[in-house]
Amino acid sequence: TFVVTEACIRCKYTDCVDVCPVDAFREGPNFLVIDPDECIDCAVCVPECPVSAIYAEEDVPADQQDYTPLNADLARVWKPITRTKEALPDAEAWREVTDKRAELER
Ligand code: SF4
Ligand code: F3S
Repeated sequence: TFVVTEACIRCKYTDCVDVCPVDAFREGPNFLVIDPDECIDCAVCVPECPVSAIYAEEDVPADQQDYTPLNADLARVWKPITRTKEALPDAEAWREVTDKRAELER
């Protein structure tokens, strides 16, 4: 499966969702996740993300391994998002911030 990681938090550009052939993205207040039961590993979403937040599970950075189970957990409670929409208002200010874990809203 593919995994959305920390860079997405408080940015949520949503370019990724338009290209997914199986509508695997799920939306929270300031972050998206990929439903591992839906993702078919096509990889087309990866280059769409302006902040390179999406990784193949085996390539998730060592300090972000917890995002793999986090995507699976939140995918069970969040609703699908299938169309790109406006990024969050402060996305540009947050895109260079690297430590955003505490900002995640559920
Ligand atoms: Fe969708 Fe393909 Fe990205 Fe999986 S890898 S979330 S199937 S676009
Ligand atoms: Fe997040 Fe990147 Fe998609 S910021 S919403 S993973 S385009």
